[in-house]
Amino acid sequence: ERSDLRETLLAINKLAAKYYYAQLRSEKGRQAIRYLTDRSLTEETIVHFGLGYANKYSDDLSRYLKMQGYSDELIVKSGLASVDEKQGIHDKFWNRVMFPIMDVNSRVIGFGGRVMGDAKPKYLNSPETPIFDKSRNLYGLNRARTSRKSYFLLCEGYMDVIALHQAGFTNAVASLGTAFTPGHASLIRRYVQEVYLTYDSDEAGTKAALRAMPILKEAGITSKVIRMDPYKDPDEFIKNLGAPAFEERIQKARNGFMYSLEVLERQFDLNSPEGKTAFLKEAASRLGEFEEQIERDNYTEAVARAYRVSFEDLKRLVSKTAVEKG
Ligand code: UTP
Ligand code: MN
Ligand code: MN
Ligand code: MN
Ligand code: MN
Repeated sequence: ERSDLRETLLAINKLAAKYYYAQLRSEKGRQAIRYLTDRSLTEETIVHFGLGYANKYSDDLSRYLKMQGYSDELIVKSGLASVDEKQGIHDKFWNRVMFPIMDVNSRVIGFGGRVMGDAKPKYLNSPETPIFDKSRNLYGLNRARTSRKSYFLLCEGYMDVIALHQAGFTNAVASLGTAFTPGHASLIRRYVQEVYLTYDSDEAGTKAALRAMPILKEAGITSKVIRMDPYKDPDEFIKNLGAPAFEERIQKARNGFMYSLEVLERQFDLNSPEGKTAFLKEAASRLGEFEEQIERDNYTEAVARAYRVSFEDLKRLVSKTAVEKG
């Protein structure tokens, strides 16, 4: 029976979370504890997020789960181990700090595991299973859903969510090492109508933010973008500048569309007449995508002001590209 399988997989994941948690507290987990405290996590935060440790032996968890009465087949189905001819059953995660991933109801549905050094891959994640659909779950949502804020902070990684929550920003969530999807957006839309994107400041993060914005918009969610520079991500930002500085960045967050123009701008030389003209044509074409006249006009006005051109001229350009597109 399918729902029986789901219940069993949830039970296995829950046991695994407890097992990893106990490992972290054991002698073997000392290095992992040190790793987490070196990354500025408090004892309270470690408990709050149920962090754990998968130790160095490659079948520890599997053996434990077998002792609890689960078959190899079920353990493999949980995504926590696999079998091959040479090694038999062996754990997916070993010698990693473990981040349990929970659904909105705080049931463990999978894990992320981080190496404690520079080895690759930096993070391993549970594969998709009958209980773990990456495109329909968000890390931290079980906590963020009860935050009083009317918006979510959407970031990239486990450590970003944890650092933000620890600093009091309990409305932070992250997609699970995958691209942001319409499934994520409709999940968010059940709780809030606004998202502040706080992706990494590198090129990958910038691209990911630009890709997420139309997906959010399609789901009826407005977006703003928070700048992380000169730091790489929210975790590093907060570690260096603290919560009040992050709060300031929230206040200064830019409208998503204006942010996309700032990114576009980098491809043009706005100091030359040709460069500025080409840029404005592309901006006008994007303004033409706003279907509602009033929204289109308001954005046209904002762009005209930001780039010092006359509203009338820009509006004419926008109407022209809108007509050309039909
Ligand atoms: P980042 O590469 O930005 O790492 O990946 P990070 O979260 O800042 O990592 P730390 O701070 O060095 O620990 C962002 C997120 O992408 C997923 C993870 O969810 C990670 O938190 N990711 C990244 C993977 O799934 N696998 C990887 O190898 C790397
Ligand atoms: Mn999926
Ligand atoms: Mn990144
Ligand atoms: Mn990062
Ligand atoms: Mn980071």
